[in-house]
Amino acid sequence: MGVEEIKKAAAREALSFVEDDMVVGLGTGSTTAHFIRLLGKKVMEEELEIYGIPTSHQSRLLAIESGIPIVSLEEVDAIDLAVDGADEVDPGLNLIKGRGAALTMEKIIEYRAGTFLVLVDESKLVERLGQKMPVPIEVIPAAWRAIAEELEVFNAEAELRMAVKKDGPVITDNGNFILDARFAMIEDPLDMEMELNSIPGVVENGIFADIADVVLVGTPEGVRRLER
Ligand code: 5RP
Repeated sequence: MGVEEIKKAAAREALSFVEDDMVVGLGTGSTTAHFIRLLGKKVMEEELEIYGIPTSHQSRLLAIESGIPIVSLEEVDAIDLAVDGADEVDPGLNLIKGRGAALTMEKIIEYRAGTFLVLVDESKLVERLGQKMPVPIEVIPAAWRAIAEELEVFNAEAELRMAVKKDGPVITDNGNFILDARFAMIEDPLDMEMELNSIPGVVENGIFADIADVVLVGTPEGVRRLER
């Protein structure tokens, strides 16, 4: 079984969390893309009244293409469920997110969701956050250099993320830059998440401590369910 099939199996399992009349936060990335496509199919086949709240241009375009009616955060009183991928998951279900640079809107929506469901394949499971991936930090462009220097206090080395099919840095959906910060050690994810957000010029960071409710882990043997 290839990795895309494994991600798709986790996405299929996530459909069992969806009920009629729900407002569903739609995450960003390749795993969530499988979920959005499958959700569109389910909405059409079962004639469900589901509204999606996208976390990025990527998920908005995909939701439209998949036939999922979309609403904005300003239009809803509550978000029932949010579904998203992650770059790392530790044993306490703390996450690193933001490889797709959509972390700010993802956190705004997932923090408010009644249930935040995470979909990963088992390569994303780590013993401690920062083991494999840097922490993405969305910053106000004019402050990027000052913030990169400030991060040295935390023993982190930060790099400005560069675009691939555009000259210069990645520009987020909110018009900001991304710093990718490699930490020698993240001992307390919640504490680090708060500390990073207290640096002036930081918009949001990719540590999602204590907000995931359920993680569905795709493996060649099937989908495992982790709960806090
Ligand atoms: C985007 C994210 C993604 O959810 C995360 O990078 C996982 O993506 P994928 O499912 O493609 O591995 O945080 O900002």
